[in-house]
Amino acid sequence: MKIKNGAVWKDTQGNILHAHGGYIIKYEDMYYWYGENRLDNIYVSCYSSKDLVNWTFCNHVLTADSKAEEIRVRTDLRLRNEEGKKVNIERPKVLYHRESGRFVMWMHYENGKDYCCAAAAVATCDTPTGDFVYHGSFNPYGYMSRDCTLFEDNGRAYFLSSSRDNADMHMYLLQDDFMNIERLIAAFWQGEYREAPALVKKDDMYYLFTSFCTGWAPNQGKYAKTDCLEKGFGKMKEIGDETTYHSQPAFILKLKGKETVSYIYVGDRWNGENYHDSRYVWYPLIFHENGDVELVECKELDIDVETGRIRY
Ligand code: GAL
Repeated sequence: MKIKNGAVWKDTQGNILHAHGGYIIKYEDMYYWYGENRLDNIYVSCYSSKDLVNWTFCNHVLTADSKAEEIRVRTDLRLRNEEGKKVNIERPKVLYHRESGRFVMWMHYENGKDYCCAAAAVATCDTPTGDFVYHGSFNPYGYMSRDCTLFEDNGRAYFLSSSRDNADMHMYLLQDDFMNIERLIAAFWQGEYREAPALVKKDDMYYLFTSFCTGWAPNQGKYAKTDCLEKGFGKMKEIGDETTYHSQPAFILKLKGKETVSYIYVGDRWNGENYHDSRYVWYPLIFHENGDVELVECKELDIDVETGRIRY
């Protein structure tokens, strides 16, 4: 089954697939892709697939008309601004919380007029593809929080986001139910202006991929690693070319098959002039013996979910 990088991707009904800045989870033999969709009243759309290539539209899981419900902390529940216009919901990420059976979404929230809210927001649902209930936006411990990602490791969940007008990267441990921030466990890359964080673990190392801040225009991707999240991430190394092969990280897909584990960098190829013509690229990540990570630019990616093998 082949992915065509940078092409227009359609769902199984023939409609253009909108899941930008997204995230994929596997739940009961099915992959679910959540991502941004800015059409009509939509914020987040969800698609399902068994082979990671053919995607079936499931639902617009978060919209401007989604039900809003306060949680135990005080948040801003508005899904439209004072003028009744849509806000901005960006980079939605979802984790399944086993104990509660809930799918928990974290995302970046702005008021639809500027980027001054710099807030994180949460929504939940009892099924992967149902209507998510919105629980509002807030600034974690008062910090700014823009481009973000979620990461789960040994049952603990982490939220990473660009802070202080994107100058620094923050990593927060979430509470046991994934519904709130527990504490800031690391602040790093002081003044480096990194965004679009995407985190993956391989063996006992954590690798964090990011872009520089140039809006929709692609720039040089970088990555860094650590053996302990609390230590933060050290010095960055470049990955890909000066435009990261014309992409910005959305997330890293860890494909565990019967024979092997493959790592796929999922990037957004944004079109700033025409947002809904933004495309996707799925590139292999190769972890070399010497510790370096390589991003492989390729036209097509052949994925075998059974074995976990990819060809390009
Ligand atoms: C990028 C960011 C995107 C979006 C865009 C808006 O830097 O990664 O998620 O916010 O800016 O200009």
